[in-house]
Amino acid sequence: MDWALVTGACSGIGLELARGLAKRGHPLVLVSNREKELAEAAASLRAAHGVEVHAVVMDLARAEAGPELYAEAKARGVEVGVLVNNAGILHFGEVAEMPGAKVNAMLQLHAVTPTMLARLFGAEMRERRRGQILIVSSISAFRPYPGIAIYSASKRYLFDFADALRHELLPWGVNVTCLAPGAVATGLYDSRVDVNLAKKTGVMVEAAFVADRALTGLFEGRALVVPGFGAKLLGLLMQLAPGWVVGVLRRRTGLLPMPPPG
Ligand SMILES: NC(=O)c1ccc[n+]([C@@H]2O[C@H](COP(=O)([O-])OP(=O)(O)OC[C@H]3O[C@@H](n4cnc5c(N)ncnc54)[C@H](OP(=O)(O)O)[C@@H]3O)[C@@H](O)[C@H]2O)c1
Repeated sequence: MDWALVTGACSGIGLELARGLAKRGHPLVLVSNREKELAEAAASLRAAHGVEVHAVVMDLARAEAGPELYAEAKARGVEVGVLVNNAGILHFGEVAEMPGAKVNAMLQLHAVTPTMLARLFGAEMRERRRGQILIVSSISAFRPYPGIAIYSASKRYLFDFADALRHELLPWGVNVTCLAPGAVATGLYDSRVDVNLAKKTGVMVEAAFVADRALTGLFEGRALVVPGFGAKLLGLLMQLAPGWVVGVLRRRTGLLPMPPPG
């Protein structure tokens, strides 16, 4: 079985994707920047599925992270056949108020690192004429969202990048699938979102459900996976909705923060 490399693999959707890949028999390279949690995830997947698992602790929100991770995989003698670009962060707030370090981290993590990983591992897959690349975007990529402008715009970058990359690599036998989940019950959200309530009311789906749909779509060679009817409907409605609807959402919910005019 091909090695699968999963970024952001110690929690949420990434952990479930790693579990799904291990169930299918893929040996794994798990990457995240929390050592203890990553070691626990690696040990539990090894024990449950009997696959080889490497744990690489690395901060992927840095300009050099992509080439460093590629070099680390080479040093470990791993030939990556399935690349899962999943790691992500969400900072709520207006651009003018966001600390520069948070802006930089989101852009590195959502744009630079996944692009470099796809460039480096994708070139090898193209040479071998086989491979799978999963790029995790979001339905928030389907339109601009003031209040989470950098998050949604960087997820839009991933959405467009995955589409174009797919057209470049498909003739070489390499599949690229974009995953665009709706709201998923994970640790991505800060305290303004009651994840347990959202899960109970069906507003959010489970990460395991999303991962299952994503892997099925990936290995079927689909261009885009939007898991669940609710996410498909919300994604479509928000694409069609006029700007004032987003304005109302901003005023009425705490989700797209809007400071009072000074
Ligand atoms: N939850 C949703 O509603 C939703 C919806 C659409 C799309 N998504 C996307 O799904 C992906 C996974 O998110 P999630 O919901 O599963 O949230 P999560 O549980 O917070 O997972 C995010 C993962 O990214 C890793 N990560 C964050 N910053 C990192 C860094 N600097 N270096 C290395 N790894 C880093 C985290 O590892 P550490 O904990 O070690 O930092 C964690 O494993 C993200 O790209 C997110 O944008 C989520």
